[in-house]
This record gives sequence, structure tokens and C-alpha cells, in this order.
Amino acid sequence: MPAPTATVLGLGAMGSAVATRLRETGHATTVWNRTAAKTEPHVRAGSAAAATVAEAAAASDVVIVVLLDHAGVGERLGPAAADLKGKTVVNLTTTTPNQARETAAWAADHGIAYLDGAVMAVPSMIGDPSARLLYSGDEHAYTAARPALEALGTAEFAGTDTGLASLKDMALLAAMDLMLLGYVQAIAMMRTTGATAAATAEEVEAWLGAMLPHGRELAAVVDGGTYDTGGQSVDFDRFGIASLITASREQGIRADFLEPHQKFLEELAATGHGDSDWIRIIERLAVR
Ligand SMILES: NC(=O)c1ccc[n+]([C@@H]2O[C@H](COP(=O)([O-])OP(=O)(O)OC[C@H]3O[C@@H](n4cnc5c(N)ncnc54)[C@H](OP(=O)(O)O)[C@@H]3O)[C@@H](O)[C@H]2O)c1
Repeated sequence: MPAPTATVLGLGAMGSAVATRLRETGHATTVWNRTAAKTEPHVRAGSAAAATVAEAAAASDVVIVVLLDHAGVGERLGPAAADLKGKTVVNLTTTTPNQARETAAWAADHGIAYLDGAVMAVPSMIGDPSARLLYSGDEHAYTAARPALEALGTAEFAGTDTGLASLKDMALLAAMDLMLLGYVQAIAMMRTTGATAAATAEEVEAWLGAMLPHGRELAAVVDGGTYDTGGQSVDFDRFGIASLITASREQGIRADFLEPHQKFLEELAATGHGDSDWIRIIERLAVR
């Protein structure tokens, strides 16, 4: 079976890497970019350039969208709906889960097979198995586009709820964000003694590396649902976090990143859960 033809809409850092990889793996590619000059290196390398989104959409079986944001996707795909009818659209633009579902509903209304994607990688990783790309939505669209998608990295179908790939992306990015804030806090505290950021980062890396397996143990407590395993308790953790906050302030460093943790523990203690495993904190996160 010949490799599906592919159009790439958007030639920023990520879109360019995607278009290059598709071309290099034998897919006939057509590219479009708002700033047309960015198509030139791709044309020199063998891709076709389209002057409009409609022309780009008509050129291929699979249309891969790699624009900056959801607003740009709506702005560009909306007027080309008729040209996209019957095509498979794979949207790699970072969006929220509800934005992904909104685009899926629009696509369904216009007879477009729609798959939402999330790229867990930077552009230089595209094409390497270490690049993880999550997809959700129309499973037939996934099957149709799969030969092209597998060229980009490790492809994973997350489920038929179109928002799932994006949700997982956001959850993993949230974990990364909070972890990196940990680096910031430690570096800020140690910098008050003259320690370089590099020296502290090295220590944080070693410490977090040793602690990472603990995350799965905590997850098992959450899945158990009783929070009574006799692990580190809310009351024990309250003293621990209070010390972190005090030590930080003693060094003249704000403890704003740590304070929410203390707030949730205090709420648990005040509602009679001082003896619970501290990870019960997760139950405080649901917006009521
Ligand atoms: N870069 C990464 O490491 C990375 C990793 C994972 C996911 N992503 C996601 O991939 C997507 C693209 O990122 P990128 O790194 O390629 O960004 P980028 O280098 O800033 O490129 C943005 C692209 O979007 C286009 N664009 C922006 N607004 C537009 C509009 N209203 N109409 C038409 N085109 C518009 C730009 O066109 P012009 O050239 O005309 O400005 C350009 O092609 C983002 O959603 C990003 O979150 C990126």
C-alpha cells in the first residue's frame, strides 16, 4: 500500500520537523504556512507548497495541523471546511481537552474524520521512538493516518474521547511544571548561601531520582482508596511542610509554592483526617 499523502499546515519549529520527517519517510507532502516564505526550504527539499489552506487540504489524504493555538486552528480550518470534507485531519496543535472536543464536533458537522494529537517531544526528537505522540478521537481516522503518524515517533491511541490525548498531555505537563518549581524553590533557598544554581540542580536531580519510585507507591495508596496504610500521615506531613516553609522564610525566600500543600493538609486535619495517609490530599483537589 502506498504511503498516504500528507499535508502539513503550519511550518513553525514543530510543523517543520513534522513535514521534514514525513517527506524523508516517503510521504508525498504538501505544505502551507501563513508566512509563505517558510515553505521555501521544504519545496527545495521536494515538498509541494500550497497557496491556500483549501488548496493544501485538497492535495492529500491526511491533513496534519501544527499551528500555535486553538484560535488559529479555528480561523484557518473554518473557511476550508468544504475542502476538508472526506479527509482525515490530525490536529497536533496544543489545545485543552474541551477545545479538542469542540474541533471534533465541528469536524463531525462537516463530514471530516478528526483525530486530536498531543506531542510529548521537542522538534529535534520527531522521527525518533523517544518522541511519544498521543492521539484520541475517531479510531478509523487513526487507522487511516497511522502509517504517517508512526513516522513521527511512537504513536499511541489514547481513546475515542477526543479530549483524552490533550488531557494526558496537560496532566503530564502539570507534573513537569510542579517538579521544575521544586528545582526553583531549592535553588532559591541554596543561593542564599552562595551555592550556584548548577550545584543545587545536580543535588536535586540525584534526590528526585532516588525518590521517583515513591510516586508509584503513593499511587497504589490512592487506588486502594482507604488512605489507612500506615504510611506517612497528614499530621506528620503537616510538621514537615511547616518546617520547609519556615526554613525558606528564614533564608528570605518566599514559600508561596509550598503554601497550598500546607493549606490542604490543614484542611484534612481540621476534618478529622490527621491519621490518614497524607496522599489523601488528592481528595481535596476536586472542585466541589
Ligand atoms: N516546539 C515544541 O517543543 C513543541 C512541543 C510540543 C508541542 N508543540 C506544539 O506544537 C504547536 C506548534 O508549535 P511550534 O513550536 O511549531 O510553534 P512556532 O514555532 O511558534 O510556530 C507557530 C506556527 O503557527 C503559525 N500560526 C500562528 N498563529 C497562526 C494563525 N492565526 N493562523 C495561521 N498560522 C498561525 C505560525 O505561522 P507563521 O510562521 O506565519 O508565524 C507558525 O507556523 C503548538 O501548539 C505547540 O504547543 C510544540
